[in-house]
Amino acid sequence: FKQKTAYEIYQCDWSSDVCSSDLNGQDGSYLAEYLLTLGYEVHGMVRRNSMSENQDSRVIHIADKITTHYGDLLDESSIDRILQEVMPDEIYNIGAQSHVRISFDMPQFTVKTNALGVLNMLESYRRICPKANFYQASSSEMFGNSVDEDGFQRETTPMHPVSPYGCSKMFGYSIVKNYRNSYKLHASNGILFNHESPRRGSNFVTNKVVKTAVQIHLGLAEKLELGNLDTYRDWGHSKDYVRAMHLIINHPEADDFVVSTMGTHSVREMTKYVFKRLGMNYEDYVIQNKIFMRPEELQYLKGDSTKARTILGWKPIYTFEEMLDEMIDYWLNVFKK
Ligand code: GDD
Repeated sequence: FKQKTAYEIYQCDWSSDVCSSDLNGQDGSYLAEYLLTLGYEVHGMVRRNSMSENQDSRVIHIADKITTHYGDLLDESSIDRILQEVMPDEIYNIGAQSHVRISFDMPQFTVKTNALGVLNMLESYRRICPKANFYQASSSEMFGNSVDEDGFQRETTPMHPVSPYGCSKMFGYSIVKNYRNSYKLHASNGILFNHESPRRGSNFVTNKVVKTAVQIHLGLAEKLELGNLDTYRDWGHSKDYVRAMHLIINHPEADDFVVSTMGTHSVREMTKYVFKRLGMNYEDYVIQNKIFMRPEELQYLKGDSTKARTILGWKPIYTFEEMLDEMIDYWLNVFKK
């Protein structure tokens, strides 16, 4: 048994309450846990932050089992140094400025990190450890408002991104394919639809709704301010999606795969479910605030993951309701303490 070395890239997560350079985004922490259960040696890159607590808060429970390295997707010398030191078998690039609305406020930082950052990774990978397998976290945001006639987005659906984030991810996706073909690298894209969990940053809509609804339920808040309630998302659980990442990177042929639940719900339906589970009517508490609206909005996502299910044998375990229930229970525990 050869113990494989996996190298994950964690970048500034921006998804926690504080804009922090967590080494441990939601996916990074679940992926690290999953790889450890499979016997991997796990290394992760972390950006320096003035609050050291924010760098490893989500992986603190496994801190003694993983190795962290200071680095930055925009600092090629740091990527070179880490890859030379670790010489990994698998490289997961899941670092990004991952918040779509914030990408309108910080378009240049978003594009540098999410587009140029991927190129920096690929260049170091190609020169230093080209025998490794590479996974790129691509996103359903790349589709924009493009939907196939049957109401799904799939690997063949045209991509027309509607945010700086989506545009930056489309570059990352394309350059991975280009490097795969040009240099015969085992570099793959996972086109992941929205995925959530109790570890989701609370400025993404699911965890924002759940956390605030629980606060209202316990008398700790009065109102919930949201943006657009009538957009649709295909929401899965991050734990299920990191399993897909591992299957994608280990597939004999490098390829691109949609990862999704094949269902869709509006923000309104999700909000209604969460408030109802807590014995409340969402209409009594939710107000719209245009600061949470986007200059251009992606209206509807529903992914067809038949390819991943057929070729990789992947399927999600969590239902939409089970995922939200887990998040509700998490916040009830936090605030009842
Ligand atoms: N964040 C947020 N906050 N979104 C809101 C709010 C609010 O107050 N009110 C309504 N929404 C709507 C957004 O306009 C969007 O239509 C939907 O809720 C989901 O927003 P997010 O949870 O912020 O996720 P996202 O779909 O923009 O992006 C996520 O999924 C992508 C995959 O499609 C992120 O995880 C991306 O990094 C990921 O690539």
